[in-house]
Amino acid sequence: MKKIIPLLISVLLVMGLTACGSAKSSDTAEKSVSAEANDAKAQNENEKTAENAPAEAETEPSQADNDVLVIYFSATGTTRGVAEKIAAITDADVYEIKAEQEYTTDDLNYNDPQSRTTLEQNDPSVRPKIGSEDISLAGYSVIYIGYPIWWGEEPRIMDTFVESQSFDGITVIPFCTSSSSGIGRSGKNLADNAGSGNWLNGQRFGAGASQEELEAWINELQ
Ligand SMILES: Cc1cc2nc3c(=O)[nH]c(=O)nc-3n(C[C@H](O)[C@H](O)[C@H](O)COP(=O)(O)O)c2cc1C
Repeated sequence: MKKIIPLLISVLLVMGLTACGSAKSSDTAEKSVSAEANDAKAQNENEKTAENAPAEAETEPSQADNDVLVIYFSATGTTRGVAEKIAAITDADVYEIKAEQEYTTDDLNYNDPQSRTTLEQNDPSVRPKIGSEDISLAGYSVIYIGYPIWWGEEPRIMDTFVESQSFDGITVIPFCTSSSSGIGRSGKNLADNAGSGNWLNGQRFGAGASQEELEAWINELQ
């Protein structure tokens, strides 16, 4: 019995020390796990901040250095051709007004009193929706704005466009294409509906308007 008591004490001592050691090591393990978690969290936060920071390129204005813009609407490509020539001569940016609901051949049938264009042109209050992306005119000082003549006037979608924009401080130069009609009162209509901008008298061109003809007109404006 005398021999058993010191043996029991030794066993109890060893068990106590072992328990203490394992508690310490689990504590250390917890600490290192939580340090790793903190590191991961910090890294995550950094990544989030980087994600949220606006990319430098996105904050830059998308327009080029030039402050001239050519805007046009064209249902069958004639006005587009003239617009592109004007843009090449003036080194301008180009913006195309597209209808949300594209004009079909049937829509453009001026012999049909019920066609979409006949109905639209017969009602000056119609405002067809625009499908092309919005554009900011900020930064432009000269804008050429082109369209075909429909029933002697500007297509109603041109009114939709000018009413949606501010032309403050901008010189606006209308141009149009047609089979034979002149620009008529279309430029004045657009200026009235826009309600802002310095609108010059516009010019009508035929489908075959040459580079020289357009250059001569542009030079006369200056
Ligand atoms: C519905 C409609 C009405 C038109 N009205 C006229 C007109 O009144 N006078 C005219 O000379 N040409 C008229 N045209 C012909 C266009 O003005 C001409 O073809 C124009 O150059 C088309 O331009 P775009 O190809 O850019 O759409 C009309 C064409 C359409 C589709």
